[in-house]
Amino acid sequence: MHGLVRPFVTNRYFSASYRNRSTIRQITFKMAARCLFNTVPRVLKSTRVFAVNSRSLTALPETLQTTVELPEAHQILQKTLHEFSDKELAPRASKADRDQAYPAEQVKAMADLGLLKVMVPEEYGGSGLDSLACAIAMEEISRGCASCGTIFSVMNSLYIASILEFGTKDQIKEFVGKFSKTSDVGCFALSEPDNGSDAGAASTTAHLDGDTWVLNGSKAWISNGSVAKAGVVLATTDKSMKHKGIGAFIVPMPIAGLTVGKNEDKLGIRASPTNTLHFDNVKIPKDHILGEPGMGFKIAMQTLDGGRIGCAAQGVGIAQAAFDWAVQYALQRKAFGKPISNFQTIQLKIADMQIRLDTARLLTYRAAKLKDAGRPFTKEVAMAKVYASEAATFVSHQAIQILGGMGYVKDMPVERFYRDARITEIYEGTSEIQRLVIAGCVLKEFAQK
Ligand code: CAA
Repeated sequence: MHGLVRPFVTNRYFSASYRNRSTIRQITFKMAARCLFNTVPRVLKSTRVFAVNSRSLTALPETLQTTVELPEAHQILQKTLHEFSDKELAPRASKADRDQAYPAEQVKAMADLGLLKVMVPEEYGGSGLDSLACAIAMEEISRGCASCGTIFSVMNSLYIASILEFGTKDQIKEFVGKFSKTSDVGCFALSEPDNGSDAGAASTTAHLDGDTWVLNGSKAWISNGSVAKAGVVLATTDKSMKHKGIGAFIVPMPIAGLTVGKNEDKLGIRASPTNTLHFDNVKIPKDHILGEPGMGFKIAMQTLDGGRIGCAAQGVGIAQAAFDWAVQYALQRKAFGKPISNFQTIQLKIADMQIRLDTARLLTYRAAKLKDAGRPFTKEVAMAKVYASEAATFVSHQAIQILGGMGYVKDMPVERFYRDARITEIYEGTSEIQRLVIAGCVLKEFAQK
């Protein structure tokens, strides 16, 4: 079932015509979405039945998503992945969270649909979709299982995106193409035990020894670390040059000299592994560097801009899930002789949740569209990430309030949404860093007027 998107496109369209590249791209996308739409239902197995006991809701709630204008193909993709997430991801998310177990079957299901290479061009075995499609996919995946969302996003928006943007054809073939027939994933190693926000202060080193780069040091908080089959690793080649002395290296994994630390015992996204990577004289060939030795910091920053669309979309997905459960619960739960949705205190909460959810979605889609249009989007994606991550925390917090005790126990998934939401305010640049980025861009724009 691998790559349902790509074979369809290749067989039915690509072999037919190469005349107009942009038309082809458009149709590729349309066809790809249709293909997913037609094929997903056949690979779905589980039912909507969710839980648990007489106190809780027994089925996944319907999604109460308000209208956002999307191209037709994106709408089809969204609908398809919505169903995929409801049937394949959501019913297994609580157990994966409880067991802190890598969701291998769910990752395989995503790989089968071409989702692990969603923006990779068809010539390298990918689905060839755009950033907006990737954001929609991330939102729907995270709505069902935020841990799967993290695995998906780190693979697509950090690992693959950095190689696609800065790699040579050979590097892309080897480190993106070779993942095409499997559900293998990659990781992106920037943070260190002593440097998180200050990404330019990398103390992991890389020095050239003949035809070999030798890496030493530790990278911390690495999503997908224990399962990755390769990673993009930032290391300093010349400390005196500060951020201009950093390189980005592609490291196949496992490899001699690399030790992977324990899976961190996290508050949320517990099924997604997070590890420290220790490099002790890890040797990789000279040609495993992305671009030039001093380009690493820019590669990291530019890649993180794209990654932050994923974080924002994850926030939207988590917020949507929390919102849906809360509204359905409010309609069914009775107090003082009537459904609690009749009370204005609950209605005010629902209104505030809806406003933040929709604003977060609109900001996220705007950032993705700007990226797709090749326009600057650093400020806009920072705004989307701050807003969507804080909206996810707010909405899931309010959802617990609406559910009361049932929101606080693990019989229902709402407490998990609250725990999962929290990381979106931290990873790939904290909310504080995003605000600095936004202010920096605004001040620069004014200074240039
Ligand atoms: N795109 C391209 N280039 C950029 C850029 C961007 N978005 N932002 C900065 N740059 C460039 C600048 O133009 C500048 O270039 P020159 O030296 O040529 O002039 C250079 O980078 C340095 O810029 P700054 O002086 O602004 O850099 P800084 O040291 O002050 O840091 C920062 C800026 C915004 C704080 C940055 O360090 C940052 O984003 N920090 C957060 C890092 C982060 O997100 N960490 C999370 C790691 S990934 C993760 O979470 C793990 C996981 O597995 C999910």
